[in-house]
Amino acid sequence: MSVAHNSSRITIPQLASRKGGEPIVVLTAYTAPVARLVDPHVDAILVGDSLGSAIYGMTSSLPVTLDMMIAHGRAAVVSSSHAAVIVDMPFGSYQASPEQAFRSAAKVMVETGCDAVKLEGGAHMAETVAFLVARGIPVMGHVGLVPQSVHVLGGYRARGRDAREADSLIAGARAIADAGAFSIVIEGTIDPVSRAITEAVPVPTIGIGASAGCDGQVLVIDDVLGLAGDFKPKLARRYVDLGALISEAAQSYSADVRARRFPGPENVYGLPKNSA
Ligand code: KIV
Repeated sequence: MSVAHNSSRITIPQLASRKGGEPIVVLTAYTAPVARLVDPHVDAILVGDSLGSAIYGMTSSLPVTLDMMIAHGRAAVVSSSHAAVIVDMPFGSYQASPEQAFRSAAKVMVETGCDAVKLEGGAHMAETVAFLVARGIPVMGHVGLVPQSVHVLGGYRARGRDAREADSLIAGARAIADAGAFSIVIEGTIDPVSRAITEAVPVPTIGIGASAGCDGQVLVIDDVLGLAGDFKPKLARRYVDLGALISEAAQSYSADVRARRFPGPENVYGLPKNSA
C-alpha cells in the first residue's frame, strides 16, 4: 500500500539546511495518537526501533522487524502533517549489502510515505548510504552508542572515552556525511566528542545523550512522558508522569466497576425516545 505525501511538511532539505541554526527538535512516536499530538511541536518525528522496548516490551531492538517499522511508520505518517517523518531501518534489514538496504528502504518509503530512513553505523555504512541517496532515498545516519550493535559493543556504556574510539567516531560520522547523509544522530557519546563530530560534519547532528552543542536533540517519547516505569535514563528528561496518571485512572475505573458506579446512565443505550 502506498501513502499519499502531504506537501506542507518540513522537508528533508529544510532540515539539512539548519546546520548551526535554530536547534532541530525531534521526538520519537510510534502510534497514531502520539504522532498527532507531537506533530505541531517538533521538526521531525522519528519512528525509532526503540519501539521494540517501548511498545513490545523487548529487551533490545534486535528482534524488531521491517513489518513492525512499516506498520508504525504508516501510523505516524497518516496522523501527522507538519513534521518530517523518519523511519528506522531495523537490524538485519540493511547491513548485508547496499542492494539489500535499497530493497528494504524502498519498501519502507513506499509503504509508509515517510520522508527518510535512518540507519546505524559509521565508515562501514558509507557505501550503503551513498547507494541509497543516489537512488532517491534520504538517509539519516546514527553513530556513537548504536543499539543494534550492543553485542559487539558489549553493553550500553557511553562511547568516545578513549582517543582511538573518539577518532573512529569522528571519522565514521565524516564518512557518512560525505556519502550524503542529510543529518546524523549521535547517541550516548561523551560531550567533547559529540561537539567534535558536530564541528567535523557539514550536516546537522541530532544528539541523544550527546551534547547541548549538537544541532538538534531527540528523545524517546516514553522517557519524556514517564511511560518507561522506574527506568530513568540519565540522557532523558521526564516532562510528565503519565505512568502515574494511567495507573491512577486504571485504579479509579476498577473501583467504579467493582462498586457498580460504572457504567452510569449516560453510558448505556435504551430504547429510542419515541418508541411506545
Ligand atoms: O530507536 C530510536 O528511538 C532511536 C533514537 C534513540 C535516536 O534510534
